[in-house]
Amino acid sequence: MKKTTHKEALDNKIFKITSQAATQLNVKSYVIGGFVRDFLLQRDFKKDIDIVAVGSGIALAQEVSSLLPNKPKVQVFKTYGTAMLCFEGIDIEFVGARKESYSTDSRNPVVETGTLEDDQNRRDFTINALALSLDEADYGTLVDPFNGIEDLKNKIIRTPLDPDITYSDDPLRMMRAIRFATQLGFTIEAESLTAIGRNKERIKIITGERIVDELNKILSAAVPSVGFKLLHQTGLLHIIMPELTNLQGVEEVEGQTHKDNFFHTLEVVDNIAQNTDDVWLRWAALLHDIGKAPTKKFSKKVGWTFHGHEFVGGKMVKKLFERLHMPLNHKMKFVSKMVMLSSRPIVLAQDIITDSAVRRLVFDAGEDVESLMTLCEADITTKNPNKFKKYHNNFKIVRQKIVEVEERDHVRNFQPPISGEEIMATFNIKPSKEIGILKEAIKEAILEGEIPNEYQAAHDYMMERAKKLGLVVVD
Ligand code: CTP
Repeated sequence: MKKTTHKEALDNKIFKITSQAATQLNVKSYVIGGFVRDFLLQRDFKKDIDIVAVGSGIALAQEVSSLLPNKPKVQVFKTYGTAMLCFEGIDIEFVGARKESYSTDSRNPVVETGTLEDDQNRRDFTINALALSLDEADYGTLVDPFNGIEDLKNKIIRTPLDPDITYSDDPLRMMRAIRFATQLGFTIEAESLTAIGRNKERIKIITGERIVDELNKILSAAVPSVGFKLLHQTGLLHIIMPELTNLQGVEEVEGQTHKDNFFHTLEVVDNIAQNTDDVWLRWAALLHDIGKAPTKKFSKKVGWTFHGHEFVGGKMVKKLFERLHMPLNHKMKFVSKMVMLSSRPIVLAQDIITDSAVRRLVFDAGEDVESLMTLCEADITTKNPNKFKKYHNNFKIVRQKIVEVEERDHVRNFQPPISGEEIMATFNIKPSKEIGILKEAIKEAILEGEIPNEYQAAHDYMMERAKKLGLVVVD
Protein backbone atom coordinates (compact mmCIF):
# COMPACT_ATOMS: atom_id res chain seq x y z
CA MET A 1 0.00 0.00 0.00
CA LYS A 2 1.20 3.52 -0.82
CA LYS A 3 2.53 5.35 2.22
CA THR A 4 0.91 8.73 2.82
CA THR A 5 2.00 11.21 5.45
CA HIS A 6 0.21 14.22 6.84
CA LYS A 7 2.77 15.91 9.08
CA GLU A 8 1.00 19.22 8.38
CA ALA A 9 -1.99 17.94 10.41
CA LEU A 10 0.21 17.57 13.46
CA ASP A 11 1.42 21.15 13.98
CA ASN A 12 -0.07 21.53 17.41
CA LYS A 13 2.51 21.28 20.21
CA ILE A 14 0.45 18.62 21.91
CA PHE A 15 1.29 16.09 19.19
CA LYS A 16 5.05 16.61 19.51
CA ILE A 17 4.82 16.26 23.26
CA THR A 18 2.68 13.12 23.00
CA SER A 19 5.24 11.71 20.61
CA GLN A 20 8.05 12.42 23.09
CA ALA A 21 6.07 10.97 25.99
CA ALA A 22 5.29 7.81 24.00
CA THR A 23 8.98 7.37 23.13
CA GLN A 24 9.87 7.63 26.80
CA LEU A 25 7.30 4.98 27.68
CA ASN A 26 8.33 2.91 24.69
CA VAL A 27 4.80 2.70 23.29
CA LYS A 28 3.39 3.68 19.93
CA SER A 29 0.68 6.31 19.75
CA TYR A 30 -1.69 7.61 17.07
CA VAL A 31 -4.19 10.41 16.56
CA ILE A 32 -7.42 8.80 15.48
CA GLY A 33 -11.08 9.49 14.77
CA GLY A 34 -12.82 12.80 14.22
CA PHE A 35 -9.67 14.94 14.25
CA VAL A 36 -8.09 13.03 11.36
CA ARG A 37 -11.38 12.77 9.46
CA ASP A 38 -12.14 16.48 9.78
CA PHE A 39 -8.56 17.44 8.86
CA LEU A 40 -8.77 15.41 5.66
CA LEU A 41 -12.20 16.87 4.88
CA GLN A 42 -10.85 20.36 5.63
CA ARG A 43 -13.66 20.85 8.11
CA ASP A 44 -13.39 23.14 11.11
CA PHE A 45 -11.44 21.62 13.97
CA LYS A 46 -13.83 20.86 16.82
CA LYS A 47 -11.51 21.11 19.86
CA ASP A 48 -11.52 17.45 20.70
CA ILE A 49 -8.63 15.09 19.93
CA ASP A 50 -8.52 11.32 20.40
CA ILE A 51 -5.20 9.59 20.89
CA VAL A 52 -4.75 5.87 21.03
CA ALA A 53 -1.72 4.26 22.67
CA VAL A 54 -0.65 0.71 21.98
CA GLY A 55 -0.21 0.24 25.73
CA SER A 56 -1.70 2.19 28.60
CA GLY A 57 -3.63 5.30 27.61
CA ILE A 58 -3.69 6.41 31.23
CA ALA A 59 0.09 6.18 31.61
CA LEU A 60 0.57 8.11 28.37
CA ALA A 61 -1.79 10.88 29.52
CA GLN A 62 0.11 11.18 32.79
CA GLU A 63 3.46 11.33 31.00
CA VAL A 64 2.14 13.98 28.57
CA SER A 65 0.89 16.06 31.47
CA SER A 66 4.29 15.90 33.19
CA LEU A 67 5.94 17.28 30.03
CA LEU A 68 3.49 20.15 29.62
CA PRO A 69 4.46 23.51 31.15
CA ASN A 70 1.35 23.86 33.35
CA LYS A 71 1.07 20.11 34.15
CA PRO A 72 -2.69 19.95 33.55
CA LYS A 73 -4.83 17.70 35.68
CA VAL A 74 -5.43 14.26 34.22
CA GLN A 75 -8.93 12.89 34.62
CA VAL A 76 -8.81 9.13 34.76
CA PHE A 77 -11.71 6.82 33.89
CA LYS A 78 -10.35 3.53 35.16
CA THR A 79 -13.26 1.32 34.10
CA TYR A 80 -12.84 2.38 30.50
CA GLY A 81 -9.04 2.57 30.58
CA THR A 82 -9.18 6.16 29.33
CA ALA A 83 -7.81 9.48 30.56
CA MET A 84 -8.40 13.06 29.56
CA LEU A 85 -6.60 16.33 29.90
CA CYS A 86 -7.24 19.80 28.62
CA PHE A 87 -4.52 21.71 26.81
CA GLU A 88 -5.04 25.27 25.54
CA GLY A 89 -8.80 24.78 25.48
CA ILE A 90 -8.59 21.47 23.62
CA ASP A 91 -9.86 18.25 25.22
CA ILE A 92 -7.46 15.41 24.60
CA GLU A 93 -8.62 11.91 25.29
CA PHE A 94 -6.14 9.06 25.63
CA VAL A 95 -7.17 5.47 25.28
CA GLY A 96 -5.22 2.21 25.23
CA ALA A 97 -5.67 0.22 22.01
CA ARG A 98 -8.22 -2.47 22.69
CA LYS A 99 -10.13 -5.40 21.45
CA GLU A 100 -13.69 -5.31 22.59
CA SER A 101 -16.49 -7.73 22.88
CA TYR A 102 -19.88 -6.48 23.90
CA SER A 103 -22.55 -8.25 25.85
CA THR A 104 -25.92 -8.25 24.13
CA ASP A 105 -27.87 -6.28 26.71
CA SER A 106 -25.67 -3.28 27.21
CA ARG A 107 -23.41 -0.81 25.49
CA ASN A 108 -20.63 -1.45 27.97
CA PRO A 109 -17.89 -3.52 26.45
CA VAL A 110 -15.66 -6.10 28.05
CA VAL A 111 -12.27 -4.56 27.35
CA GLU A 112 -9.07 -6.41 26.45
CA THR A 113 -5.83 -4.77 25.35
CA GLY A 114 -5.07 -5.12 21.66
CA THR A 115 -3.09 -3.87 18.67
CA LEU A 116 -3.76 -0.69 16.70
CA GLU A 117 -5.58 -2.78 14.12
CA ASP A 118 -7.79 -4.38 16.79
CA ASP A 119 -8.62 -0.90 17.94
CA GLN A 120 -9.42 0.33 14.44
CA ASN A 121 -11.60 -2.73 13.87
CA ARG A 122 -13.81 -1.88 16.79
CA ARG A 123 -14.49 1.68 15.67
CA ASP A 124 -17.71 2.77 14.06
CA PHE A 125 -16.85 3.79 10.49
CA THR A 126 -13.92 3.50 8.14
CA ILE A 127 -13.73 7.31 7.96
CA ASN A 128 -13.45 7.42 11.76
CA ALA A 129 -10.81 4.68 11.94
CA LEU A 130 -8.13 6.68 10.10
CA ALA A 131 -5.05 7.13 12.28
CA LEU A 132 -1.93 9.28 12.00
CA SER A 133 1.22 7.96 13.65
CA LEU A 134 2.87 10.03 16.36
CA ASP A 135 5.88 7.71 16.45
CA GLU A 136 9.16 9.59 15.85
CA ALA A 137 10.19 7.08 13.19
CA ASP A 138 7.15 7.58 10.95
CA TYR A 139 5.57 10.77 12.30
CA GLY A 140 2.41 11.72 10.38
CA THR A 141 2.03 8.43 8.50
CA LEU A 142 -1.55 7.54 7.73
CA VAL A 143 -2.68 4.12 8.91
CA ASP A 144 -5.80 3.20 6.98
CA PRO A 145 -6.46 -0.55 6.92
CA PHE A 146 -10.03 -0.26 5.59
CA ASN A 147 -9.44 2.26 2.82
CA GLY A 148 -11.24 4.99 4.70
CA ILE A 149 -9.53 7.52 2.43
CA GLU A 150 -11.44 6.13 -0.55
CA ASP A 151 -14.68 6.32 1.45
CA LEU A 152 -13.91 9.93 2.34
CA LYS A 153 -13.40 10.73 -1.34
CA ASN A 154 -16.52 8.87 -2.42
CA LYS A 155 -18.51 10.20 0.52
CA ILE A 156 -19.46 6.80 1.87
CA ILE A 157 -20.32 5.73 5.41
CA ARG A 158 -19.13 2.16 5.84
CA THR A 159 -18.36 0.06 8.91
CA PRO A 160 -14.93 -1.61 9.25
CA LEU A 161 -16.49 -4.93 10.26
CA ASP A 162 -19.70 -6.61 9.15
CA PRO A 163 -22.28 -3.86 9.86
CA ASP A 164 -24.44 -6.26 11.89
CA ILE A 165 -21.55 -6.63 14.33
CA THR A 166 -20.64 -2.92 14.45
CA TYR A 167 -24.25 -1.79 15.01
CA SER A 168 -25.20 -4.54 17.36
CA ASP A 169 -22.02 -3.86 19.44
CA ASP A 170 -23.07 -0.25 19.94
CA PRO A 171 -26.53 0.59 18.59
CA LEU A 172 -25.91 4.33 19.00
CA ARG A 173 -23.78 3.97 15.87
CA MET A 174 -26.95 3.54 13.80
CA MET A 175 -27.86 7.09 14.74
CA ARG A 176 -24.27 8.22 14.25
CA ALA A 177 -24.26 6.81 10.71
CA ILE A 178 -27.37 8.82 9.89
CA ARG A 179 -26.00 11.90 11.66
CA PHE A 180 -22.71 11.79 9.72
CA ALA A 181 -24.60 11.24 6.46
CA THR A 182 -26.65 14.36 7.24
CA GLN A 183 -23.79 16.54 8.50
CA LEU A 184 -21.29 15.59 5.81
CA GLY A 185 -23.63 14.94 2.89
CA PHE A 186 -22.41 11.32 2.70
CA THR A 187 -24.28 8.18 1.60
CA ILE A 188 -24.65 5.20 3.89
CA GLU A 189 -23.45 2.12 2.05
CA ALA A 190 -26.46 -0.03 1.04
CA GLU A 191 -25.46 -3.05 3.13
CA SER A 192 -24.96 -0.85 6.13
CA LEU A 193 -28.34 0.80 5.68
CA THR A 194 -30.18 -2.51 5.57
CA ALA A 195 -28.22 -3.62 8.64
CA ILE A 196 -29.58 -0.57 10.50
CA GLY A 197 -33.08 -1.71 9.59
CA ARG A 198 -32.33 -5.20 10.89
CA ASN A 199 -30.82 -3.96 14.14
CA LYS A 200 -33.18 -1.07 14.81
CA GLU A 201 -34.77 -2.62 17.90
CA ARG A 202 -31.36 -2.48 19.64
CA ILE A 203 -31.68 1.33 19.80
CA LYS A 204 -33.92 0.70 22.82
CA ILE A 205 -30.88 0.03 25.02
CA ILE A 206 -29.52 3.53 24.34
CA THR A 207 -30.33 6.32 26.78
CA GLY A 208 -32.53 9.22 25.71
CA GLU A 209 -29.71 11.70 26.32
CA ARG A 210 -27.43 10.06 23.77
CA ILE A 211 -30.20 9.73 21.22
CA VAL A 212 -31.06 13.39 21.67
CA ASP A 213 -27.39 14.38 21.22
CA GLU A 214 -27.53 12.82 17.78
CA LEU A 215 -30.96 14.27 17.00
CA ASN A 216 -29.65 17.73 17.91
CA LYS A 217 -26.75 17.27 15.52
CA ILE A 218 -29.10 16.13 12.75
CA LEU A 219 -31.40 19.07 13.43
CA SER A 220 -28.44 21.47 13.40
CA ALA A 221 -27.33 20.36 9.94
CA ALA A 222 -27.97 22.45 6.83
CA VAL A 223 -30.63 20.06 5.49
CA PRO A 224 -32.02 18.13 8.48
CA SER A 225 -34.64 16.26 6.42
CA VAL A 226 -31.86 14.05 5.03
CA GLY A 227 -31.41 12.55 8.49
CA PHE A 228 -35.09 12.28 9.32
CA LYS A 229 -35.84 10.54 6.05
CA LEU A 230 -33.10 8.00 6.83
CA LEU A 231 -34.37 7.55 10.38
CA HIS A 232 -37.80 6.96 8.94
CA GLN A 233 -36.67 4.64 6.18
CA THR A 234 -34.70 2.43 8.58
CA GLY A 235 -37.53 2.23 11.09
CA LEU A 236 -35.56 3.95 13.86
CA LEU A 237 -37.80 7.01 13.91
CA HIS A 238 -40.87 4.96 14.64
CA ILE A 239 -39.14 3.59 17.74
CA ILE A 240 -37.71 6.86 19.04
CA MET A 241 -40.42 9.33 17.96
CA PRO A 242 -43.66 7.64 16.94
CA GLU A 243 -45.38 11.02 17.29
CA LEU A 244 -43.67 11.99 14.04
CA THR A 245 -44.13 8.81 12.03
CA ASN A 246 -47.82 8.78 12.98
CA LEU A 247 -48.11 11.87 10.79
CA GLN A 248 -47.08 9.96 7.73
CA GLY A 249 -49.57 8.98 5.07
CA VAL A 250 -52.46 10.44 3.15
CA GLU A 251 -55.94 9.17 3.81
CA GLU A 252 -58.77 9.43 1.37
CA VAL A 253 -62.45 9.38 2.21
CA GLU A 254 -65.10 10.16 -0.38
CA GLY A 255 -62.48 11.53 -2.71
CA GLN A 256 -61.14 13.97 -0.11
CA THR A 257 -57.52 13.79 0.99
CA HIS A 258 -55.27 15.72 3.37
CA LYS A 259 -51.58 16.46 2.97
CA ASP A 260 -48.90 14.08 4.26
CA ASN A 261 -48.06 15.87 7.47
CA PHE A 262 -44.82 13.99 8.01
CA PHE A 263 -43.23 15.07 4.75
CA HIS A 264 -44.74 18.52 5.16
CA THR A 265 -43.05 18.73 8.58
CA LEU A 266 -39.69 17.82 7.05
CA GLU A 267 -40.09 20.61 4.50
CA VAL A 268 -40.83 23.03 7.32
CA VAL A 269 -37.71 21.91 9.18
CA ASP A 270 -35.55 22.43 6.08
CA ASN A 271 -37.11 25.84 5.54
CA ILE A 272 -36.48 26.96 9.09
CA ALA A 273 -32.90 25.66 8.95
CA GLN A 274 -32.26 28.36 6.37
CA ASN A 275 -33.43 31.08 8.72
CA THR A 276 -32.28 30.15 12.19
CA ASP A 277 -29.45 28.36 13.99
CA ASP A 278 -31.56 28.09 17.13
CA VAL A 279 -31.89 24.35 17.61
CA TRP A 280 -34.94 24.79 19.86
CA LEU A 281 -36.79 26.68 17.17
CA ARG A 282 -35.85 23.83 14.84
CA TRP A 283 -37.34 21.41 17.40
CA ALA A 284 -40.51 23.50 17.36
CA ALA A 285 -40.67 23.16 13.58
CA LEU A 286 -40.16 19.40 13.89
CA LEU A 287 -42.96 19.05 16.42
CA HIS A 288 -45.35 21.78 15.28
CA ASP A 289 -47.88 19.37 13.77
CA ILE A 290 -47.60 16.35 16.11
CA GLY A 291 -51.07 17.05 17.46
CA LYS A 292 -52.51 16.35 14.04
CA ALA A 293 -52.39 12.57 14.34
CA PRO A 294 -54.56 12.29 17.47
CA THR A 295 -57.01 15.02 16.38
CA LYS A 296 -57.59 13.94 12.80
CA LYS A 297 -61.26 13.57 11.85
CA PHE A 298 -63.31 13.34 8.73
CA SER A 299 -66.73 14.87 8.42
CA LYS A 300 -68.91 14.80 5.36
CA LYS A 301 -69.54 18.53 5.62
CA VAL A 302 -66.04 19.95 5.97
CA GLY A 303 -63.75 17.08 5.04
CA TRP A 304 -60.58 16.49 7.06
CA THR A 305 -60.08 18.52 10.24
CA PHE A 306 -57.46 18.65 12.98
CA HIS A 307 -59.35 20.75 15.52
CA GLY A 308 -57.30 21.79 18.51
CA HIS A 309 -54.17 20.07 17.23
CA GLU A 310 -51.98 22.98 18.37
CA PHE A 311 -53.09 22.62 21.99
CA VAL A 312 -52.86 18.81 21.93
CA GLY A 313 -49.46 19.06 20.23
CA GLY A 314 -48.19 21.56 22.82
CA LYS A 315 -49.09 19.08 25.57
CA MET A 316 -47.43 16.23 23.68
CA VAL A 317 -44.16 18.18 23.60
CA LYS A 318 -43.77 17.85 27.35
CA LYS A 319 -44.40 14.09 27.29
CA LEU A 320 -41.94 13.63 24.44
CA PHE A 321 -39.28 15.67 26.22
CA GLU A 322 -39.84 13.61 29.37
CA ARG A 323 -39.57 10.32 27.53
CA LEU A 324 -36.34 11.29 25.78
CA HIS A 325 -34.84 12.75 28.97
CA MET A 326 -34.62 16.18 27.44
CA PRO A 327 -34.48 19.32 29.59
CA LEU A 328 -37.85 20.19 31.10
CA ASN A 329 -36.90 23.82 31.60
CA HIS A 330 -37.65 27.03 29.69
CA LYS A 331 -36.46 25.36 26.45
CA MET A 332 -39.25 22.80 26.65
CA LYS A 333 -41.72 25.55 27.52
CA PHE A 334 -40.54 27.55 24.51
CA VAL A 335 -41.03 24.60 22.15
CA SER A 336 -44.44 23.81 23.63
CA LYS A 337 -45.51 27.46 23.36
CA MET A 338 -44.38 27.67 19.74
CA VAL A 339 -46.40 24.55 18.91
CA MET A 340 -49.46 25.92 20.69
CA LEU A 341 -49.27 29.22 18.85
CA SER A 342 -48.12 27.80 15.54
CA SER A 343 -51.36 28.45 13.65
CA ARG A 344 -52.07 31.91 14.99
CA PRO A 345 -50.21 34.06 12.47
CA ILE A 346 -51.49 31.89 9.61
CA VAL A 347 -54.96 33.33 10.05
CA LEU A 348 -53.38 36.76 9.78
CA ALA A 349 -51.69 35.83 6.54
CA GLN A 350 -54.98 35.01 4.87
CA ASP A 351 -57.33 37.74 6.00
CA ILE A 352 -57.29 41.44 6.54
CA ILE A 353 -54.68 42.19 9.15
CA THR A 354 -56.18 44.24 11.93
CA ASP A 355 -54.14 46.00 14.60
CA SER A 356 -56.00 44.23 17.35
CA ALA A 357 -55.20 40.79 15.91
CA VAL A 358 -51.52 41.75 15.80
CA ARG A 359 -51.69 43.13 19.34
CA ARG A 360 -53.17 39.86 20.56
CA LEU A 361 -50.45 37.92 18.83
CA VAL A 362 -47.73 40.01 20.46
CA PHE A 363 -49.50 39.72 23.79
CA ASP A 364 -49.65 35.92 23.62
CA ALA A 365 -46.21 35.29 22.11
CA GLY A 366 -44.38 37.96 24.14
CA GLU A 367 -40.62 37.82 23.71
CA ASP A 368 -40.95 34.94 21.25
CA VAL A 369 -43.05 36.68 18.65
CA GLU A 370 -40.19 36.91 16.11
CA SER A 371 -39.41 33.21 16.54
CA LEU A 372 -43.08 32.44 16.01
CA MET A 373 -43.11 34.48 12.81
CA THR A 374 -40.00 32.62 11.59
CA LEU A 375 -41.75 29.31 12.31
CA CYS A 376 -44.90 30.35 10.49
CA GLU A 377 -42.99 31.58 7.46
CA ALA A 378 -41.22 28.22 7.32
CA ASP A 379 -44.65 26.55 7.51
CA ILE A 380 -45.59 27.93 4.10
CA THR A 381 -44.99 24.93 1.87
CA THR A 382 -47.70 25.56 -0.71
CA LYS A 383 -46.63 24.71 -4.25
CA ASN A 384 -48.99 27.33 -5.64
CA PRO A 385 -46.72 30.30 -6.45
CA ASN A 386 -49.49 32.88 -6.10
CA LYS A 387 -50.47 31.68 -2.67
CA PHE A 388 -46.81 31.40 -1.66
CA LYS A 389 -46.22 35.02 -2.59
CA LYS A 390 -49.42 36.24 -0.99
CA TYR A 391 -48.72 34.52 2.35
CA HIS A 392 -45.15 35.76 2.48
CA ASN A 393 -46.24 39.29 1.66
CA ASN A 394 -48.90 39.19 4.34
CA PHE A 395 -46.33 37.98 6.87
CA LYS A 396 -44.12 40.90 5.90
CA ILE A 397 -47.00 43.22 6.70
CA VAL A 398 -47.60 41.38 9.98
CA ARG A 399 -43.93 41.84 10.90
CA GLN A 400 -44.14 45.58 10.15
CA LYS A 401 -47.32 45.89 12.16
CA ILE A 402 -45.72 44.06 15.07
CA VAL A 403 -43.06 46.78 15.21
CA GLU A 404 -45.60 49.61 14.90
CA VAL A 405 -48.02 48.18 17.43
CA GLU A 406 -45.23 47.43 19.85
CA GLU A 407 -43.83 50.96 19.62
CA ARG A 408 -47.22 52.38 20.40
CA ASP A 409 -48.79 49.91 22.81
CA HIS A 410 -45.97 47.97 24.53
CA VAL A 411 -47.97 44.80 25.00
CA ARG A 412 -44.99 42.46 24.49
CA ASN A 413 -44.39 42.09 28.22
CA PHE A 414 -47.80 43.23 29.25
CA GLN A 415 -48.05 44.59 32.77
CA PRO A 416 -51.58 45.57 33.79
CA PRO A 417 -51.57 49.40 34.01
CA ILE A 418 -53.91 49.21 37.03
CA SER A 419 -53.03 46.75 39.76
CA GLY A 420 -55.43 44.69 41.84
CA GLU A 421 -54.32 46.64 44.94
CA GLU A 422 -55.25 49.92 43.34
CA ILE A 423 -58.70 48.61 42.42
CA MET A 424 -59.25 47.37 46.00
CA ALA A 425 -58.13 50.70 47.47
CA THR A 426 -60.18 52.81 45.04
CA PHE A 427 -63.43 51.04 45.80
CA ASN A 428 -62.57 49.87 49.31
CA ILE A 429 -63.25 46.25 48.51
CA LYS A 430 -61.71 42.99 49.63
CA PRO A 431 -60.30 40.43 47.16
CA SER A 432 -63.28 39.47 45.02
CA LYS A 433 -64.26 38.50 41.52
CA GLU A 434 -64.94 42.16 40.61
CA ILE A 435 -61.21 42.81 40.65
CA GLY A 436 -60.63 40.07 38.08
CA ILE A 437 -63.50 41.37 35.96
CA LEU A 438 -62.08 44.90 35.92
CA LYS A 439 -58.54 43.80 35.18
CA GLU A 440 -59.71 41.58 32.33
CA ALA A 441 -61.91 44.37 30.94
CA ILE A 442 -58.98 46.83 30.93
CA LYS A 443 -56.70 44.29 29.24
CA GLU A 444 -59.33 43.52 26.60
CA ALA A 445 -59.93 47.21 25.92
CA ILE A 446 -56.20 47.70 25.35
CA LEU A 447 -55.86 44.66 23.11
CA GLU A 448 -58.95 45.64 21.13
CA GLY A 449 -57.53 49.13 20.69
CA GLU A 450 -60.43 50.83 22.48
CA ILE A 451 -58.00 52.58 24.79
CA PRO A 452 -54.21 53.11 24.63
CA ASN A 453 -52.00 51.15 27.00
CA GLU A 454 -51.60 54.12 29.38
CA TYR A 455 -52.37 54.69 33.02
CA GLN A 456 -54.84 57.59 32.70
CA ALA A 457 -56.85 55.98 29.92
CA ALA A 458 -56.97 52.69 31.82
CA HIS A 459 -58.03 54.51 34.99
CA ASP A 460 -60.88 56.34 33.24
CA TYR A 461 -62.00 53.09 31.65
CA MET A 462 -61.94 51.34 35.01
CA MET A 463 -64.15 54.04 36.57
CA GLU A 464 -66.67 53.68 33.77
CA ARG A 465 -66.81 49.89 34.03
CA ALA A 466 -66.90 49.94 37.84
CA LYS A 467 -70.01 52.09 37.76
CA LYS A 468 -71.78 49.38 35.75
CA LEU A 469 -70.75 46.86 38.38
CA GLY A 470 -72.25 49.08 41.07
CA LEU A 471 -68.91 49.94 42.69
CA VAL A 472 -68.49 53.36 44.27
CA VAL A 473 -65.39 55.36 44.95
CA VAL A 474 -64.41 55.99 48.55
CA ASP A 475 -62.42 59.12 49.40
N1 CTP B 1 -16.50 5.96 18.19
C1 CTP B 1 -17.04 4.72 17.89
N2 CTP B 1 -18.32 4.43 18.26
C2 CTP B 1 -19.07 5.34 18.93
C3 CTP B 1 -18.53 6.59 19.25
C4 CTP B 1 -17.24 6.88 18.86
O1 CTP B 1 -16.37 3.89 17.29
N3 CTP B 1 -20.30 5.04 19.29
C5 CTP B 1 -15.10 6.24 17.81
C6 CTP B 1 -14.92 6.78 16.41
O2 CTP B 1 -13.67 6.33 15.94
C7 CTP B 1 -14.90 8.28 16.63
C8 CTP B 1 -14.14 8.38 17.96
O3 CTP B 1 -14.56 7.24 18.67
O4 CTP B 1 -14.23 8.96 15.59
C9 CTP B 1 -14.44 9.67 18.72
O5 CTP B 1 -15.79 9.75 19.01
P1 CTP B 1 -16.58 11.13 19.10
O6 CTP B 1 -15.71 12.18 19.70
O7 CTP B 1 -17.90 10.85 19.68
O8 CTP B 1 -16.88 11.47 17.58
P2 CTP B 1 -16.02 12.14 16.47
O9 CTP B 1 -15.84 11.14 15.38
O10 CTP B 1 -14.82 12.75 17.04
O11 CTP B 1 -16.98 13.24 15.83
P3 CTP B 1 -18.01 14.26 16.50
O12 CTP B 1 -17.31 15.04 17.51
O13 CTP B 1 -18.50 15.03 15.34
O14 CTP B 1 -19.08 13.41 17.10
